[in-house]
Amino acid sequence: MSRPPQQPFTTRDATMQAYADHISRGKVELFEELGIDLVLGRRDGPFFWDAFDDRRFYNCHCNGGVFNLGHRNPTIVTALRDALDHIDVGNHHLVSGWKAELARRLAATTGDRLSGAVLSPSGSEAIDVAIKTATAVSGRRTIVSAHGAYHGHTGLAASAADARYHEPYGLALPGFMHVPWNDLPAMDGAITDDTALVLLETVPATLGMPMPDDGYLAGVQQLCRDRGAFFALDEVQTGLGRSGRMWCFEHDEVEPDILVTGKGLGGGLYPIAATLMTPAVHRFYDDEPFVHVSSYGGSDLGCVVALAVLDVVEEPGFLERVEEVGMRLEKELTPLPCEVRRRGLFMGLKWPDEGAGALAAAACIEAGVFAVFANNDTSVLQLLPPLTLDDAQVDELAELLVGALA
Ligand SMILES: Cc1ncc(COP(=O)(O)O)c(C=O)c1O
Repeated sequence: MSRPPQQPFTTRDATMQAYADHISRGKVELFEELGIDLVLGRRDGPFFWDAFDDRRFYNCHCNGGVFNLGHRNPTIVTALRDALDHIDVGNHHLVSGWKAELARRLAATTGDRLSGAVLSPSGSEAIDVAIKTATAVSGRRTIVSAHGAYHGHTGLAASAADARYHEPYGLALPGFMHVPWNDLPAMDGAITDDTALVLLETVPATLGMPMPDDGYLAGVQQLCRDRGAFFALDEVQTGLGRSGRMWCFEHDEVEPDILVTGKGLGGGLYPIAATLMTPAVHRFYDDEPFVHVSSYGGSDLGCVVALAVLDVVEEPGFLERVEEVGMRLEKELTPLPCEVRRRGLFMGLKWPDEGAGALAAAACIEAGVFAVFANNDTSVLQLLPPLTLDDAQVDELAELLVGALA
């Protein structure tokens, strides 16, 4: 066993100071105000520990799904370690069996309906691919997405996200428009014969996990079909088993033309994301094989990791277990004076008052459960436990949550 890496700074204060000097003073000051003095130290399974006083936290933020399978999941670590002895990122111009196999396995999760893939290093880039492929194939120029959405930080993804993610940069690219989430008449009014793409999160995490009304996503899909627009779902947070199904849209029985996945696909160890497409959309890359290149996009190492992630999520009983744990936690949390929004272990606790999600997050952190509020609805506490909790951990987590939030 090798020695763990040393913390680069010997004290909490020195770490905070260097972070403030070189990364963001505002972040350090805000955390100080909120009484959150955490520095991430060792991590294992559902837990991480503070680097300086060894406080232990259940990770119920999971970076939005990056740690779906817990920290340093042994299956994924072994796959990556073994691969590191023999391969590297590969060459994005050349044919690669790893890339082909990952695309094949991802296609299989959609019953081969979304049989083409473009692989990327991050969810944001995979969203950019969805947007620019839709405009390229349709010849249209308008993108419709939802107020309060989050689709990432790159130029196109940030433009599709809520204004708070592009306005601070003075970045308002033409062609992007936003409608209220869950409002079919508004969507009806927005989709025109210039709409290339409607892009939605299946359940918008940053908006506080409001569940789509029955028939909302199917209605949006029908509008897209009727008017010749493509329909894309962003499952960067909701996908890969988080909702108790492989893809959260399976709950809504819709069939998107484009599906974006990321975060958990890299197992918390190696960045990789994917944009899956129907053959009608993906044929663009048959005609233009070198139009989209990415040095680290779909690296061979990332593919090895992603294949191991799929192996774990596709183990018999895995998805059923996610639903079972979700139901157990919901039952324990029901006495709390909040609405429990949930699909599988994609959970949001909606409190009556604005800002209450932030207070709830502070109480959870104090109790040893790391969870954060929804940025675009501060009345909601996001709760995304690892999908790999054992029974004793479920019981302990429920007790900590109820104790912190009662
Ligand atoms: C729904 C959703 N889409 C896209 C992204 C962007 O992914 P990344 O941070 O990997 O660029 C995120 C990240 O939080 C997300 O939550």
